[in-house]
Formats: sequence, structure tokens, C-alpha cells
Amino acid sequence: MVARVIPVEDFDLVIFGATGDLARRKILPGLYRRFWAGQMPPGARIIGAARTDQETESFRATVREAIAEFVAAEKCDPETVAAFLDGLSYVTVDAMGTGGWQALKDRMRENVVQAFYFSVAPSLFGAIAERLKGNGIARDGARIVVEKPFGRDLDTARALNATLAAHFDETQIYRIDHYLGKETVQNLMAVRFANMLFEPLWNAQYIDHVQITVAETVGVEGRGAYYDGSGAMRDMVQNHLMQLLCLTAMEPPAHFEPNAVRDEKLKVIRALDPVDSDDIVRGQYKAGPGGASYRDDAGNPDSLTESFVAMKVHVSNWRWNGTPFYLRTGKRMKARMSEIVVQFKEPPHNIFTEAAHPRANILTIRLQPDEGIDLRMTIKEPGPGGMRLVEVPMDMSFAEALGPEAADIPDAYERLIMDVIRGNQTLFMRGDEVEAAWAWTDPIIAGWTARDDVPLPYDAGSAGPEDALILLYRDSRRWREIAG
Ligand code: BG6
Repeated sequence: MVARVIPVEDFDLVIFGATGDLARRKILPGLYRRFWAGQMPPGARIIGAARTDQETESFRATVREAIAEFVAAEKCDPETVAAFLDGLSYVTVDAMGTGGWQALKDRMRENVVQAFYFSVAPSLFGAIAERLKGNGIARDGARIVVEKPFGRDLDTARALNATLAAHFDETQIYRIDHYLGKETVQNLMAVRFANMLFEPLWNAQYIDHVQITVAETVGVEGRGAYYDGSGAMRDMVQNHLMQLLCLTAMEPPAHFEPNAVRDEKLKVIRALDPVDSDDIVRGQYKAGPGGASYRDDAGNPDSLTESFVAMKVHVSNWRWNGTPFYLRTGKRMKARMSEIVVQFKEPPHNIFTEAAHPRANILTIRLQPDEGIDLRMTIKEPGPGGMRLVEVPMDMSFAEALGPEAADIPDAYERLIMDVIRGNQTLFMRGDEVEAAWAWTDPIIAGWTARDDVPLPYDAGSAGPEDALILLYRDSRRWREIAG
């Protein structure tokens, strides 16, 4: 099966913070991959903008290096790279001052899609938004893309929303949560809403519980200053795990259309109960087989920041009453594994013998390391000798089911940037959604701050603190093994 690529319209994409890490690692290599795949039209122009004083040629040279570093070698033939670089230029811009804005304006064309990617600190969002409008650079219909962290609590998120709203309409604002760009996350919606099989059972009557795990092997990777002021709750739960929870728990939207989907996600967030302190486990890695301690990595010997969180969450509505959602995320875990596990209830009555007990069906939606969906079923063990039951996987690894091209899945950023150009906000967070997520998160953080909570130590390279296991044992359940 060959992936179908539909080219987008001509566009001018300005990347503020074009010399930064995110642009180098994700945005520019991602754009190149879309160019390589034939999705970028010849009329696509990418304009790097940053404070660094340099010419287009030296910007192109750094992008060439970034492509060589982050794009698979077989996609890096010199002609294609050169053709991509031809569409790139650079403008030195002072985000807080006046320098460079006229040059940027002169670079923009009429009658093409305009997008501005704010790959900069949130403290610069307001200044850039104001200058884009004030200098008459952003036209009506221009799109702006903003990165996380979108605030660090409800107040700061509200302030950011207000700052952007002063210059741009909500329909122009694309708040990125790159988890929404992951292929399997979108597949979760396809599985739920394009099959008859699951949706009738998708509720508390048939589902025992849901587990959402995002386990990483990496530590704070040179981002200690940012991470130590955030922790796993702000860095991962408030946004990425929350989005996975929403897509798993939401009601079917009437249409696959931005506001229909986002309305349903918002309802889930608003239905979340406050989390009891007994239902949360915070951890911080200490030196172990996976590497040095968090405190060494973060450069803060007294840090009380959590690098791991596990919690039990209730969605208080008719559909989910009585079915807990267990969330867990951590750095320096023993394997990189992200998945959503939907564990169904056991059949109500066993017609077989005690020895042949049917197991609960388990649907696993794997995000990482390999994308796929796995359904565990109970069947009869083949052969004579009476009725013996055995659990078998119905494993739908995309690569196996759809051919090797299907394994060449665009990176989340690639997909999302193309959606910006297409003007499709379905996979972007709306302002009210982000605020609702903070409104739920703030009291949790305030609770442990007030208690002077000390995160529980766990070995770097382990499955997290013991107490996280107890969180489920207590309910006669167990986490899925963290394995790559
Ligand atoms: C980012 C977090 O948003 O997501 C990082 O800031 C984290 O701390 C990363 O490592 C995880 O993304 P992915 O796509 O590698 O699972």
C-alpha cells in the first residue's frame, strides 16, 4: 500500500525561533520530509526568523545539517535537499523591538496561505503577535502556531489566551500538542467511530478500567532548567496524557470537524473529578541502571520536582461512572512504551470448568515504540483433550497489516504543520480546553505543594516507585509490564 499524499496549497510559513532546538530537530526536518514526500507545492516558502544576525545562505547551511542529522539517509538525495533549501530564506528579527519587521513584510507574498510558527518562549508570544498585526504583516485568515508549555497554571494560560486573542481570532490559533499528531492517536478515533464492534461496549458496563502509560527512557536531556520548574504533571499529564484520556473517553462527535471534536474533549475534562491525594504517586529517579539521578541531571541537588506520576482518575458522567482511568508517565523508565490499554470486564458467567476460565479482553492501542493495535481474545486451545482456553493476540501492527510503506508514518509535527496549512484545527487544542485542563491540574499541584510532598525515589531504568504498583493492587488490578 502506497501512502496517498495530497499536496497542500502554496504558503508562506514564517518560523520564529528558527535557530532554536525545536526548529532544528523537528520543524525543519519535518517540513523537509513532507517536501520529499511530494506534499509541499513548488510555491511553498519557508522563512526563518530569529534574533541571530545571519544571511539566508548560512541559515540554509544549518538546515542542511539538521536534515542530514534528523532525516533518514535514503530520503536525503542532494537534488531534493537543494530544491527544498531553495524555498528557504532568513530574516533577522527583533521580537521585542522594531528591527527586521519591514524586511519580513517585504518577504511575504499576496494570495498564499500565511502561517506563523511561534517556536519561542511564551513570554514572546504577545510581542510577536502585536508586531505581526501592527506592521500589517499578518493578513485576515493568517494562522499562528504556538507551542507548549501553554501556561504553567490556569492564570498564566488565561493570560496567554487573552494576549493572543487581542490580535488573532480563535479560528486562527493553532495550539500544538504533538501527541494529537501521532498516527495511533488518530487511529483511536478511527477504531472507535469507524467500527461497530467497540462503541456499544465502550462504557462502564463493559469496561473494567483504562490504563494510559507514557514511559520514557530519556531523562531531562539538558532541559533541566525548564523541567525542574515544571515536573511530569505539567510537562506530560496536563497536556499529552489528558489528550489521550479525552480521545478515549469522549462521546462520539457528530462530525469529524474541529469544534465538534473539541467540544466533546472539553466535556470530558470538565467531567473529571478532583484527584484524591491517596490516588496519586509522585516519583523522582535516583541513580540506577538507567543512569544518573534526576537531581544530577537537572543540576538541582535539593529538587522536589517529580519525574514520574501515576494516578487514578474518574470521569464523572453516565458513560464512565465506576470505571477508573489510571494514568502513568515517567522519565528514565526501563523501556520506552506508550499505550492506551482498555481492559474489558470478564464474561459474567463461566460456563467452562474452573480450570478453563475466560480472560478479560484487552484492547491495546500502542503509540510507541511501534504503532499498532492489539486485541487479546480467549479461544479454545486447539486439539483434543477437553475444553482448554487460551488467550491469543489479534495483533494489527500497521507495518505488517498494510505493508512497509505504512510503517513510514509521518512524524507528529509533519502532520500537524500540514494541517495548519490546510486550515484544519481538529488536532489542535482550543483555548477553553487548555484552560479546563489547567483548572483540573492546579489543585493537584497545589495539594502536594501545600503538603511539602517529597517524591518517592525510584531507580533510573526501573518501572517507577513501588507505590505506583500498589495504586492498582489496591483495586485488585495490575499495570501492564513496561517493555519496549
Ligand atoms: C514533550 C515533553 O512535550 O514530550 C518532553 O516536554 C517529552 O519532556 C516529550 O520527552 C515526549 O514526546 P514523545 O513524542 O517522544 O513521546
